[in-house]
Amino acid sequence: MPLVTSTEMFRKAYEGGYAIGAFNVNNMEIIQGITEAAAELRAPLILQVSAGARKYANHTYLMKLVEAAVEETGLPICLHLDHGDTFELCKSCIDGGFTSVMIDGSHHDYEDNVALTAKVVEYAHAHGVVVEGELGRLEGVEDDVKVSAADASYTDPAQVEDFVQRTGVDSLAIAIGTSHGAYKFKPGQKPQLRFDILQEVAQRLPQFPIVLHGASSVIPEFVAQINQYGGSMPDAIGIPEEMLRQAAEMAVCKINIDSDLRLAMTASIRKHLAEHPADFDPRQYLKPARQAIKDMVARKISNVLGCAGKVE
Ligand code: G3H
Ligand code: 13P
Ligand code: ZN
Repeated sequence: MPLVTSTEMFRKAYEGGYAIGAFNVNNMEIIQGITEAAAELRAPLILQVSAGARKYANHTYLMKLVEAAVEETGLPICLHLDHGDTFELCKSCIDGGFTSVMIDGSHHDYEDNVALTAKVVEYAHAHGVVVEGELGRLEGVEDDVKVSAADASYTDPAQVEDFVQRTGVDSLAIAIGTSHGAYKFKPGQKPQLRFDILQEVAQRLPQFPIVLHGASSVIPEFVAQINQYGGSMPDAIGIPEEMLRQAAEMAVCKINIDSDLRLAMTASIRKHLAEHPADFDPRQYLKPARQAIKDMVARKISNVLGCAGKVE
């Protein structure tokens, strides 16, 4: 089975009231942990690569690792560029075999976002690749870009029909209160999502797949484990799993998760090295770390996404 686009996955997810997990990948152990969990649970899957991950691991290495995962698991996997910020980056991923790209023009003003996104869509569609656009701006850190609370903004539902119609995007990321990274809410603040905005977007764009970025739950036991074994993370709050589940039952078809994988992997490595201080073979700590990734993905598929068993 070759890599697939997300078109069929999203169509079924929309109708079935579930979402597809889009997990960020940087190396072999992360790819193996994610794909082993998805294969065991027969879950459709999106693996996504950020510009930073591509710089870190190299396009060809990531491509070959993902191809190996497709061969090993037989799963339909969509390979997606996360937060592409230029036409050139999107083109390079399309030419290099990705089946989906995000063009994140949300940092530009509306008209420039439309023009840039439409340009990427034209090239992508001519090459059989699908495109995710973004309207509204999420708070938080991704790569070297930090968006402050003051610069973040919810998606304006009044813009979505015009944006989708003029750009031709296949899915749309919206801002309803999620944010990137581990620190999504201030200590003591109650997590909240603007389900009213999601509902209005869904009414204006019937049957259209919506994407949620910044959707890690920052599960407290992993932060506690990091801190128990020498870390010093401040209090971190994520998006409660039941809110994400609710979004998945609505128009949200793709849920992006990176921070929860980072926390699970780091917590596992810290614990292993603290308990086995004489170990120096990377396999000794990367094996449980890979298992921690697998367990986290299995948890997401069951508790949040609802996509177990959706691969025939
Ligand atoms: O949304 C961003 C993802 O968490 C990727 O993060 O740019 O540090 O690889 P990164
Ligand atoms: P988290 O930082 O919440 O995992 O979000 C990841 C993301 O949106 C990747 O695009
Ligand atoms: Zn994101």
